[in-house]
Amino acid sequence: MQRPLHPLFVSLLLASVYGSHSLGHQLDDGGEAPQWGQLKGKNLSQPVLPADFHRENTVTNDWIADGEEDEDYLDLEKVLGEDDDYIDIVDAAPPTDPAASAASALLLFPGKSRIQRLNVLNAQFAFDLYRALKEQASASDNVFLAPVGISVAMGMISLGLRGRTHEQVHAALHFTDFVNASSKYELATVHNLFRKLTHRLFRRNFGYTLRSVNDLYVQQQFPVRDDFRTQVRQYYFAEVQVADFSDPAFISKTNHHISKLTKGLIRDALENIDPTTQMMVLNCIYFKGSWVNKFPVEMTHNHNFRLNEREVVKVPMMQTKGAFLVASDQELDCDILQLEYVGGISMLVVVPHKLSGMKALEAQLTPQVVERWQKSMTNRTREVLLPKFKLEKDYNLVEALRSAGVTALFDRNSNMTGISDQRVTIDLFKHRGTITVNEEGTQAAAVTTVGFMPLSTQARFSVDRPFLFLVYEQRTGCLLFMGRVANPAKS
Ligand SMILES: *[C@@H]1O[C@H](CO)[C@@H](O)[C@H](O)[C@H]1NC(C)=O
Ligand SMILES: *[C@@H]1O[C@H](CO)[C@@H](O)[C@H](O)[C@H]1NC(C)=O
Ligand SMILES: *[C@@H]1O[C@H](CO)[C@@H](O)[C@H](O)[C@H]1NC(C)=O
Ligand SMILES: *[C@@H]1O[C@H](CO)[C@@H](O)[C@H](O)[C@H]1NC(C)=O
Repeated sequence: MQRPLHPLFVSLLLASVYGSHSLGHQLDDGGEAPQWGQLKGKNLSQPVLPADFHRENTVTNDWIADGEEDEDYLDLEKVLGEDDDYIDIVDAAPPTDPAASAASALLLFPGKSRIQRLNVLNAQFAFDLYRALKEQASASDNVFLAPVGISVAMGMISLGLRGRTHEQVHAALHFTDFVNASSKYELATVHNLFRKLTHRLFRRNFGYTLRSVNDLYVQQQFPVRDDFRTQVRQYYFAEVQVADFSDPAFISKTNHHISKLTKGLIRDALENIDPTTQMMVLNCIYFKGSWVNKFPVEMTHNHNFRLNEREVVKVPMMQTKGAFLVASDQELDCDILQLEYVGGISMLVVVPHKLSGMKALEAQLTPQVVERWQKSMTNRTREVLLPKFKLEKDYNLVEALRSAGVTALFDRNSNMTGISDQRVTIDLFKHRGTITVNEEGTQAAAVTTVGFMPLSTQARFSVDRPFLFLVYEQRTGCLLFMGRVANPAKS
């Protein structure tokens, strides 16, 4: 009997609202009321958009429903061929200060393609942002983010930034380090690479479903510069669309669009948008992959998961046996397991030996550390015990981005003159994601179950205490998702 196969659903919504007075005021404390940027003579009772407005006017028409052919409008081989410039000379001087971790991430550049190099630095930024986010959370909270969505959105926004605001965003995102690493690289290289990355990740069928949409909505009277529109389309496949944020039909239409995109995983993404909002960026990622080594459903049983020194919870623990890449890091005192999805995406599960070891691990997580793990992995037969989990997180990233060094963007004096001559500020950077990790895939499970024998504890990789997970696309080295499961019984 065949049952539908749904081993993993991941989705992300990342929304930035640009506006002098946006949703941020209702959702977030401490938002300051901007003094300028109000639209003059704005008529809040605009006529309702025609029902098919967004279908007709959305570039994300190119979102492909399951089963439909992915239509290529780029010559992918040519595009990726241009990236095979492994011999690019890295000009950057070796780091003199070992604490300058972004600089030492440059040591990972030789032998890597440009996209992989950019992804090394994207991961560096993701780890910085992760640390900022988990500082705001308690140690017992789960954490989940989709770094590639954030980097892509920041890359897109940065097209419209100027002056110090631009410099700061590029420095914090490590784009500056990238450009500085070779005399062959310039600013446009970064945007070109995001274009290729977007194409490589989201527009091809490699046996998993990974889709992303960038939408940029602009209030009707807001004057957006033409060159910004053109570049956003050219590099990020995004379209600047006219919208009326005060129109409930716009919100329901957008929510419907996001819900459809995420297969119903994210509903009511937008609630009420402040009608004075001027610009909003939406970035959605949806991932569905199936494990190479599936977890037979009948092997899932309740097991103890240790939350901390005092507390234990019983959670449904999936179980399977097979050949896995594993490593043990003596220095960071943790074990690493790689779980593969069909099609070249993998999840690294990182489990500190000691319950108290999570803090040190989080503090020292860098692209170099991850590469060290990947290089030291060996192929072993393991019985794997992994809790089922489902995380749903909704962040306003403004504070975390500030802690990660992006401050000017959210200042009243931010220079966004590349987007519009009218002054604007960003007060909401919405990042919402969900991930479900389970064993489903009963069809293959029957096969896996044959010969399943529990092994001795040495051959067991038991994820029975708080752990980190990192989901990478292997060919581009892109960090797609990362998170911490402190308690699988919570979301
Ligand atoms: C606002 O728009 C509505 C609908 O288009 C129109 O009936 C109304 O007269 C407008 N009000 C102003 C103040 O322009
Ligand atoms: C760029 O690289 C040069 C040479 O390696 C270095 O001296 C300089 O400080 C770097 N600049 C920035 C902004 O990182
Ligand atoms: C923005 O930056 C540009 C380029 O550095 C500068 O010419 C312009 O005066 C700045 N505008 C504002 C409003 O800060
Ligand atoms: C590990 O070894 C098994 C059996 O030798 C092989 O089938 C599998 O492809 C290997 N896996 C990896 C990731 O190298």
